[in-house]
Amino acid sequence: MQRNAVYPDLAGRSVFITGGGTGIGAALTRAFAHQGAKVAFVDIAEEDSAALVRQVGSEGATHVPKFIRCDLRDIAALRAAVQEAQQAHGDITVLLNNAANDQRHKPEDVTPEYWDDRMAINQRPMFFAAQAIIPQMQHAGGGAIVNFGSVSWKLGQGGMPAYTMAKASVHGLTRGLARDYGKQNIRVNTLVPGWVMTKRQLTLWVTPEAEKQIDAGQCLAGRVMPENIADMALFLSSAASSMCSAQEFVVDGGWT
Ligand SMILES: NC(=O)c1ccc[n+]([C@@H]2O[C@H](COP(=O)([O-])OP(=O)(O)OC[C@H]3O[C@@H](n4cnc5c(N)ncnc54)[C@H](O)[C@@H]3O)[C@@H](O)[C@H]2O)c1
Repeated sequence: MQRNAVYPDLAGRSVFITGGGTGIGAALTRAFAHQGAKVAFVDIAEEDSAALVRQVGSEGATHVPKFIRCDLRDIAALRAAVQEAQQAHGDITVLLNNAANDQRHKPEDVTPEYWDDRMAINQRPMFFAAQAIIPQMQHAGGGAIVNFGSVSWKLGQGGMPAYTMAKASVHGLTRGLARDYGKQNIRVNTLVPGWVMTKRQLTLWVTPEAEKQIDAGQCLAGRVMPENIADMALFLSSAASSMCSAQEFVVDGGWT
């Protein structure tokens, strides 16, 4: 099963992943579990998350990932999930702010309520997860936070302005927190995925036209897979990247 590089310092670490039940998040959950990390992940996709836990367990992970059902739009529930993860696994020293929702919307259809809902999933939980977990990182002597951005706004993609605005703001959070907590050995970076071939993307958006667009845009042949994103997340969480902070790391096949 093990296909990633091995980072011995990740073994036994308490890792918290948002949206870890499907898509890129599922690849993160699997990759960190196979490093021997103690993974807790939150998600609303209950069936997929439970199936993932069973699957990773059957693959022989030392610590079977812990799924906590939590809608990230509810900050009190997010805080409670962080506490539950700490009680189960000890101080969290890796936070992967991965959850998002890229539902398309026409600018003219956006209401204030819809706007707030997009921010409540794509932007707000990143800050509040970090706020809840940073004291644990301080107590543990350091940690790594990886915030997930997107190439969509860099490429000037339309059809979802609330999403692209939220994603463009991610790096501002990264750089602010990296400055605030860097001297305490807490590193904060942005991981920017290209167009990643998750089941959701393949089902909803990757048309034959889109395939042509990817081929024209990427320098590299082939497709960016969730495991390619997990590889970068492992690196950014481990001591291998110990002097990297406040930066963006793009995994897009050379598109942007
Ligand atoms: N897939 C891509 O091509 C791509 C491209 C650029 C950036 N990204 C970024 O990478 C990250 C992961 O993307 P993905 O494609 O795997 O996303 P996805 O939509 O496939 O999965 C996101 C996960 O978050 C969960 N989630 C959604 N709303 C939630 C909520 N309210 N509370 C708790 N969990 C919730 C979903 O159930 C799902 O498991 C996101 O930050 C996304 O913006 C993805």
